[in-house]
Amino acid sequence: MKNFISVSDVIDINALVAKALAYKANPFRDKTTGTNKRIGLLFLNPSLRTRLSTQVAAQNLGMEAIVFNVDKEGWALEFEEGAIMNGNTVEHVKDAAPILGNYFDILCIRTFPSLKNREDDYSEMYISQFIKYAGVPVISLESATLHPLQSLTDIITIKEFLNNSPLRIGGKPKIVLTWAPHIKPLPQCVANSFSQWVTAWGEADFVITHPQNYELAEKFTQGATITHNQDEALKDADFVYVKNWSAYNEYGKMFNNDPSWMLTAEKLRITNNAKVMHCLPVRRNIELSDEILDGPNSLVTQEASNRVWAAQAVISELLKPRP
Ligand code: CP
Repeated sequence: MKNFISVSDVIDINALVAKALAYKANPFRDKTTGTNKRIGLLFLNPSLRTRLSTQVAAQNLGMEAIVFNVDKEGWALEFEEGAIMNGNTVEHVKDAAPILGNYFDILCIRTFPSLKNREDDYSEMYISQFIKYAGVPVISLESATLHPLQSLTDIITIKEFLNNSPLRIGGKPKIVLTWAPHIKPLPQCVANSFSQWVTAWGEADFVITHPQNYELAEKFTQGATITHNQDEALKDADFVYVKNWSAYNEYGKMFNNDPSWMLTAEKLRITNNAKVMHCLPVRRNIELSDEILDGPNSLVTQEASNRVWAAQAVISELLKPRP
C-alpha cells in the first residue's frame, strides 16, 4: 500500500480487516513498529473520532502523532497549479507539502467538499496535490468525496458482528444504506465510500434507499440495488447504515427532508432484527431516533471505537518497508 485514499489502495480487504481485529485483541502487538517515526495529522475542518482514533492508533504502534489544525492555525493554502496568489491564500501546497514530507513519515489530511462545484470537489484536488508534493505516504482522514477509514471501520464492525453471531448458514448478510433527514446539506463522502467498500468487499447483498433526487454517483454504487421505497429496502435487512447526504446531480442541494425517512423502532420491525450503524456525529431524533440509538440494536459506539483498529491496520501497512 502506497497511500490510503480509497478502497482501490487495498489489495485484500479481508486481510486488512483481520489485521485490524488482531490489533483490537492485542493493541500493542506491534508497539515498536513506529519507533522514531512521526505521523502528521492535518485538519482543514472539525473532527472528534478521526482525530483521536488516529492519534491513539499511531501511539499504539510507537509513533509520535502531531496534529495541525490548518484551518485555524495555519496559512491559508492554495491548491491550484499556476495560481496568481493575489487573493486570500498565502502559501501554495507545492511549497508546504514537501516541507511536511520532511517533518513526517506519514501525512494524514482531512478536507471537506465545498458542495458548490461538483467538478472541483470530485477532482479531489486537495488530497491529490498532497500526494503529488509530499513525497511520503498520505492517508485520507476524509476527503471531498470519500471517507475510507470510516468505511474500513464499518466493514470491520460488520465482520466482527458476523464472526460472533453468524446469521444463516451459507447466506450473505443483507446490508441497507438508507438516506436520513438532516437540517443542512451534508457531503456524499460517507455514503459514496460505504457503497464503494461494501461492493468491493462483495460478501453482502447491498441495497441503497433514498428519496428521489438523492442518487449517488454511479461509479460508487455499481453492484448495489437502488430503490426509493425504504420499507421494501428494509425488509429482512441484517444491517442498516443510516446517513444523510445532499444531492449529487443537482449538486449540494437538499430536496425532500421528509421526517418519515428517520429510522424508528417501528421501521426496524420490518428488518431481520437489524443492527444499526451510523458514522457519527448524529442529529438525534432528526437522523436517528433516541429509541434506536439507545437501544440494543445500535452498533454506533462499537463502530466508532473500532476506528482505532482501522487506523492502526492502515498505518502499520504504510510503515512496511517498500521495495
Ligand atoms: N465519523 C467521523 O469521521 O467522525 P469525526 O467527524 O468526529 O471525525
